[in-house]
Amino acid sequence: MTVLVTGAAGFIGFSTCLRLLASGKQVIGIDNLNSYYDPALKNARLAQLEAFPNFTIRKIDIAVDDLLTVFTAFEQRSITEILHFAAQAGVRHSVMMPFAFVDANVRGQVAILELAQRLPALRHIVYASSSSVYGRNAALPFRETDRVDQPGSFYAVSKRAAELTAECYHHLHQLPLTGLRFFTVYGPWGRPDMAYYLFAKAITEGRPVTLYEGASLGRDFTFIDDAVDAICAVMDLPPSDQVRILNIGSNVPEPVARLISLLENFLGRKADIQMTPRPSADVEYTWASLEQIQQLIDWQPATSLETGLEQFSRWFLSYQHS
Ligand SMILES: NC(=O)c1ccc[n+]([C@@H]2O[C@H](COP(=O)([O-])OP(=O)(O)OC[C@H]3O[C@@H](n4cnc5c(N)ncnc54)[C@H](O)[C@@H]3O)[C@@H](O)[C@H]2O)c1
Repeated sequence: MTVLVTGAAGFIGFSTCLRLLASGKQVIGIDNLNSYYDPALKNARLAQLEAFPNFTIRKIDIAVDDLLTVFTAFEQRSITEILHFAAQAGVRHSVMMPFAFVDANVRGQVAILELAQRLPALRHIVYASSSSVYGRNAALPFRETDRVDQPGSFYAVSKRAAELTAECYHHLHQLPLTGLRFFTVYGPWGRPDMAYYLFAKAITEGRPVTLYEGASLGRDFTFIDDAVDAICAVMDLPPSDQVRILNIGSNVPEPVARLISLLENFLGRKADIQMTPRPSADVEYTWASLEQIQQLIDWQPATSLETGLEQFSRWFLSYQHS
């Protein structure tokens, strides 16, 4: 029984692998360690995973390499779950580099599902989608049944395309699939391109913090440990005859200004805040309804923004000085 985790050197993939490995599961990771953000951080995460004897990594590109030739016949027979997190992320990056999103997120999704239908022991594929698919949806909180045909960025388009691809592969090949719409996942070993990380870096380096006008609305932040709890619980519950889509959020939208003031507190420095117009790719508000996931599993995000940012800040300061 082996779990295949794509994007294993990434933030969510790494954090999930740690949990699976600590519980004794056999894990094969995939990552191409690309340089969208500093590969040193990806390598530092990977080094921790490689300390486990039950972990192996394949440094390959899911959008380019032939995945069937990557695994031995024994490995192909032993994979029971796929957690597919590898992707090109970054809402604003997708405005500049849309083809990177077609490759990693659309072609990559097809490649994983082509592999999946050839794995004889496979029980469940869980893949990462995003709250960004809700785009310019105005109904709050965001529900999985809401319309998702008004994307605000090409990143959102690529994630919605991945969801539709999953729906199609389930219809054609009866694959058991669950898509997780993550809402701003943050925490130790997090992603340096995300706002909370950029704010922390600017605050500690004494540079201005750019805050978008209207950003005082709200954003649903999910602490990484809460997200991993949900991923692991959902992984063990493949749907019997449907493609599931579930929000993974906190259901507590927070003003971005509060995020900054908590960071100031935990990093011990005041932020030099500069207001700027919000880029059109950024959505104004995110807020996850958790009704669907809570009908499936007994899960309540346990970490407040305050506790989560304290843990992040402690890690951030030690990583910056390492
Ligand atoms: N972190 C969040 O707040 C958030 C929110 C919504 C959705 N998501 C989704 O969750 C998933 C994980 O996000 P993350 O925050 O860990 O991002 P991440 O960028 O840290 O991790 C993604 C990993 O995938 C790898 N990768 C990218 N393209 C690849 C390819 N073609 N072949 C092999 N590996 C490749 C990258 O090197 C990286 O290590 C992504 O699908 C992302 O879109 C994340």
